[in-house]
Amino acid sequence: MNAVLEVKPTVTVTQAQIDFFHTNGFLALDAITTRADVERLQSTYDRIFAQKAGREEGNQFDLGGSDEDGKQEGLPQILNPMKYAPELADMLARVNARAVAQQLLGEGCMDRGSHAILKPAGHGVPTPWHQDEAYWGPDLVYRSLSVWIPLQDATVENGCLWFVPGSHKLEVLPHRCIGGDTRIHGLELVDAERHTRNAVACPIPAGGATFHLNGTLHYAGPNRTNQPRRALILGFGLDAKKRETPRRFPWNEVKAAPRQERAKQFQEKAKQAQAPAK
Ligand code: NI
Repeated sequence: MNAVLEVKPTVTVTQAQIDFFHTNGFLALDAITTRADVERLQSTYDRIFAQKAGREEGNQFDLGGSDEDGKQEGLPQILNPMKYAPELADMLARVNARAVAQQLLGEGCMDRGSHAILKPAGHGVPTPWHQDEAYWGPDLVYRSLSVWIPLQDATVENGCLWFVPGSHKLEVLPHRCIGGDTRIHGLELVDAERHTRNAVACPIPAGGATFHLNGTLHYAGPNRTNQPRRALILGFGLDAKKRETPRRFPWNEVKAAPRQERAKQFQEKAKQAQAPAK
C-alpha cells in the first residue's frame, strides 16, 4: 500500500483564516507538523545541501549569486528536493499543507512542485522582494499558492518571510534579475521601496507555515545568526488557464543563469544515453 495514503491531515483552518487569506494574500500558521518530524527533516535537508544534490542537472544553484562552481553560495536552492530525498514526500507537513491549500483554493488543487532554500549561518543573503508569478510563463492565468515551512524557528534575525498585505490583487509588477545581473536566477521587484511600505514580518515557529498567493509580494531578510535557516517550499494550485490578453515578462527572456546551461547539457546527455546503439 502507498505509504502516502496512510498519513491523514491533522490541521484545518477556520472560515476567519480563509477570509484573512483572501483579503491579505497570505496566512501564517504556528504548526502544520510536529517537532519530531521537523528534527527528522532537518538532517535530510542538511544532507542534500551538503551533497549539492541535483547540481549537475541544474536543480541546485545559488539563487542569489552568479553560481560559479566552487564559489561560496549566498542563497543555495534545490528544486524538487524530493527527487533526492524521497522521505520528504510522505512528511506530515506536506499532507497538512495540501489539506489547507485545498481549503484555501478549493477542490481540484494539485501539487505544483517544491523547492528548498537555505540561508547559510552567518552569510545567507536576503531573498529580494518578488511575486512568484514573475518567474513563471506569462501566457497563463494562475490560481496557486506557496507554502513556506521553516525547519527551525523563523525570526526577523534569521530570515523569516515578509508580505505586503493586499498585493496579490496587483498585476505582476516589473522585475529584473537581482542587481541587474542576468547570470543570477533570482528576481527582484523594480522600485521595491515604493511598493512595500506597509510590509509585515511573519516570524513563525519551526514546523509552522506561511501560505501566500502567486501574486503576493514577499521577501526574506538575510541570516544574521550563527545557525542555518532552512525552509521547504511546497506549491499547490488549480489548473492554470490560457490568458486572453497576452503579456511579456522580459526579465525572463534575458536571463542567462549557468543552471540553465547545466540543465540543457544534462538533458542532452540523458537523451544520448537513451538513443539506441548504432
Ligand atoms: Ni517566492
